[in-house]
Amino acid sequence: MTAAAQTANRIGTDDIPVRHMDFEFDDSISTFWFDNDPLRTMILTALSGTFPEGERMFMRSVRHYQNNIKDPDLRKRVKAFIGQEAHHGKEHQSFNDMMTRKGVPVDKIDAYTKMGLSRIERFYSPGRVLAKTCALEHFTALFAELLLAHPELIDGVEEQLKPLWIWHAIEESEHKAVAFDVYQEQVGGYWLRVSEMAITTVMFSFFSALHTAQLLQASKDQPRSKRMGLKQRLTGMWRHRDVLAELGKHYLTYYKPDFHPSQKDSRALRNRGLALLTRYVGDKAHISA
Ligand SMILES: [Fe+2]
Ligand SMILES: [Fe+2]
Repeated sequence: MTAAAQTANRIGTDDIPVRHMDFEFDDSISTFWFDNDPLRTMILTALSGTFPEGERMFMRSVRHYQNNIKDPDLRKRVKAFIGQEAHHGKEHQSFNDMMTRKGVPVDKIDAYTKMGLSRIERFYSPGRVLAKTCALEHFTALFAELLLAHPELIDGVEEQLKPLWIWHAIEESEHKAVAFDVYQEQVGGYWLRVSEMAITTVMFSFFSALHTAQLLQASKDQPRSKRMGLKQRLTGMWRHRDVLAELGKHYLTYYKPDFHPSQKDSRALRNRGLALLTRYVGDKAHISA
């Protein structure tokens, strides 16, 4: 195949490359893989449990408008967005399967998310579903860029799992504006966008806490080497107060009428993340399908 044909067939763009990771999560990974701490482990595991179905909803919401998109550059970015999200779903599914094999019922979270989202999609207009995708993409970009700015936050994560979170964070930052740009071109409207963000914030917080509690309960009898007291947890949160304030400020920018995800230029952060990912996976960090 010629270089030109290869470029024409490529799903990813230069700014949104579709990387194939093919991670292998073997059973040597501990149940409490985040510093032997059930709480932090299960917060992230619960999130991962919602990813495969959540990302499929993101793809469906954007695909609904795909053929009507006028901007040719946005059309290419939509294909790349769908490519990246499909791979996130695949890799998180394999992580979730590994945790389910260990007796942590992530499969139940997956089934519950599927049921909840299918109801939402039946009840909502396509424009509101896309507004929900934009809201959730703002959340993923918030967490992703927080991690890229402070990779030390996952120092306690087992080495085998760090590339999963770093890779996903880089790509969420790369495609953070795609769903938003489709919304602006095809749907538009400030109140729909921010009202859906308010609803999504409540639902996201409630279900994240609920799923974390369910996984903590289900894994409470599994052996662990250390326990963290309330005082130690509060001290840890106080140490990270600047990071939490940064997260809050970034979240609130979404409510500005002239908000756009690219107003926060995160290229330097992504380059730092890519250097880190290259250390873990080599050239795979730079090869795009
Ligand atoms: Fe994703
Ligand atoms: Fe995303």
